[in-house]
Amino acid sequence: MSKIHLTINGRDVEADSGDTILAAARKADIRIPTLCYHPALPPEESCRLCVVEMVRGRWSSLVAACVYPAREGMVIETDTDPVIKARKHILELILSDHPLDCLTCNSAGSCELMDLAYEYGIKESSLAGETHEYPVDPDPNPYIHWDLNKCILCRRCIRACSEMQCAHVLTKANRGFNQRISTAFGNILGQSGCELDGQCVALCPVDALSEKLPRGRGRNWEMNKTRSVCPLCGCGCVFDLNLKGRELLKITSNFSSAANQGALCRQGRFEYAYLNQPQRLKAPLMKQGGVWTEVPWEKALEFLADKTKTLITQYGPESLGLMLSPVLTNEELYLWQKFARTVWGTPHIDHAGSEVWAPVQEILTQRLGLTGMTNPTDDLLNSSGIILLGSQLMETHPIVGIKVRQAVQRGARLLVIDEVPRTFRRQAELLLGPKPGTEAALLQGLLSALIQGQRYDAPFVDRQTTGIEGLKSALADRTLESVASETGLTTRDLQEAVDFVAQHRPLALVCPPPLGGTPFDRELVQSALNLQLITGNLGKAGGGLAFLAPKANTLGAWELGAVNPGNPELLARLGTGKLKGLFLIAEDPAGRSHCSPDQAAALKSSGIFLVVQDLFLSEAAEQAELVLPALPYSEKMGTFTNVERRVQLLKPSIPPSPGTLWTGDLLHQFAGALGISWPLLTPGQTLEEIARNLPTWAGLTAPRLEQGGLQWPCPRPDHPGTPILYTEGFPAGPVRLEFT
Ligand code: SF4
Ligand code: SF4
Ligand code: SF4
Ligand code: FES
Repeated sequence: MSKIHLTINGRDVEADSGDTILAAARKADIRIPTLCYHPALPPEESCRLCVVEMVRGRWSSLVAACVYPAREGMVIETDTDPVIKARKHILELILSDHPLDCLTCNSAGSCELMDLAYEYGIKESSLAGETHEYPVDPDPNPYIHWDLNKCILCRRCIRACSEMQCAHVLTKANRGFNQRISTAFGNILGQSGCELDGQCVALCPVDALSEKLPRGRGRNWEMNKTRSVCPLCGCGCVFDLNLKGRELLKITSNFSSAANQGALCRQGRFEYAYLNQPQRLKAPLMKQGGVWTEVPWEKALEFLADKTKTLITQYGPESLGLMLSPVLTNEELYLWQKFARTVWGTPHIDHAGSEVWAPVQEILTQRLGLTGMTNPTDDLLNSSGIILLGSQLMETHPIVGIKVRQAVQRGARLLVIDEVPRTFRRQAELLLGPKPGTEAALLQGLLSALIQGQRYDAPFVDRQTTGIEGLKSALADRTLESVASETGLTTRDLQEAVDFVAQHRPLALVCPPPLGGTPFDRELVQSALNLQLITGNLGKAGGGLAFLAPKANTLGAWELGAVNPGNPELLARLGTGKLKGLFLIAEDPAGRSHCSPDQAAALKSSGIFLVVQDLFLSEAAEQAELVLPALPYSEKMGTFTNVERRVQLLKPSIPPSPGTLWTGDLLHQFAGALGISWPLLTPGQTLEEIARNLPTWAGLTAPRLEQGGLQWPCPRPDHPGTPILYTEGFPAGPVRLEFT
């Protein structure tokens, strides 16, 4: 991109060609006010508050800085009398049909119109005239409050809905003075395809669209805003927690986040009530006379130490098991597994749902060297084609889902493979519905046809793989006819899919986890990997293989040893009689147990010594002899690793609830009760220890993570992280094309 130079307010400013005047000014830290503009959205030039004076010799004109291109030699003034006059006039026009009830407005303190009126000294409009009276909060949805009386018609909500969420629910109705924001047919949101993610709320600069839940509960200046990471799924969205005292009043977008660029899903933005629940555990609980009774930590840990010692003496250390939650931080997972291995001496460590991800973890690690998404989510915007293996993506990983939609909206072609597509029908160029369980056969048919037809990336295959001839023979019987009969598709469908794969480069393949806790299909993982290898789609922007880890920190749990590689599925040991003591560290953000109903029943009948740590008295906790209170993500420091291998820092928004203990503290005291010395480590010291032990983490430090997440491998403190894997080839040399 070439550089240009212009003069703004008498200063020489360097900008990139293609920048707008606004972008050029911002690079030079020169402020130009805006209202309809937002960096997360395409500009629309509907308010003209960003006017600046473009000077050309003896005459000049007012232009909108947010859309007008900066040019070499241009002379711009941002604060001359005509500019100020124009801005004041625009603000008066807006206020002429806007209630002046800032004293009681819920958005006071975060309203961009109020800030601009203050800046330009506008108290009221001199342009009195007809005003609108719309019903307030007419929509029955539980989260989004509408008050069109306050709407300034900036259309940021429409752009948020169509460009960010790609839901196309909002539009403008009527013309001229009666123009207003509406759903397509004026229906309520619930009947308009609205996904209640609230991107429109996040982008509304005034109180026209706002959060319903916190209304009347606090003013914006009473809230303490801290950046955090959502623990509800593997997307790892960064957001801001807005707390008044200890109460979480709302969750708002953080637009500086690389993982989600300010977008959130409905659960992430609105379903946080559990954090305010008074039923949260506040102290260790033991059953006394059949009744749960709060006990001091010393007593709980003494009891724990006695029982643990007795079990180890009677049955050996392997009689103990540790089941961790995949929504614990990396630091907590690391410390717990280290404690179990070194203090108790048991290898029986697992995390809930490990079996779901195990096939992907094993196959990708063994064949490529690393696991997780090979490319960042945002890189889908560089794809020419996308194969989506499972349309449940909007349920399992909503932010990856909206990125797929954004990519399609910008021209990428989409092939959806799912027997009954739940979503993405509208976006798909090609929809294939193979019989359930035959998806791997379908991919093998594509592989075979691409190889037979010499439609693969021969230079990539020669350079970066081995075994193409072996793969060709292994797939010889996967003709389109045989695959059609197995999958229930037609050979024409299959041929179209072959053409799709052959014609689109770069091509990304996205595969969300199956619903219901079913593990990824091993053969499907192998086939998808082989497909991306023969088509040369690894190691490049817009390509990649995106198997999506199911929970907030599933990748971290595997990386930090919260598994017993040779023998996962700890809870399966329940029926063997060999497990005598189980620690269920099941801090779950929604207060659900990580045990399936079967497992909870097995726990009940197993008669083992059960200890549960959780936020609430969960179903599993009810079976325990000792229950310990857990810390939610909002009250602790640590890191999560999202689906893209991005390690992101969590900082406590409020001090830990009285009666809770950070894991490092808990284990230090537990070891003390066992008569063993175990260092007391802070989350920061634990991160340093992890970085010393894991070469891919060596460059990850808390100060660096404060600036935003980093994607491993990050082997040195000056390493920028690795957004796209394998750009320089595979760590162990050419990859064998095979089905292991
Ligand atoms: S909540 Fe989302 S889908 Fe619904 S109107 Fe707002 S942006 Fe559109
Ligand atoms: S509802 Fe909000 S975002 Fe939408 S046009 Fe009105 S003021 Fe702008
Ligand atoms: S997409 Fe996932 S991480 Fe993002 S807000 Fe929703 S639940 Fe949270
Ligand atoms: S901010 Fe430029 S036209 Fe509205």
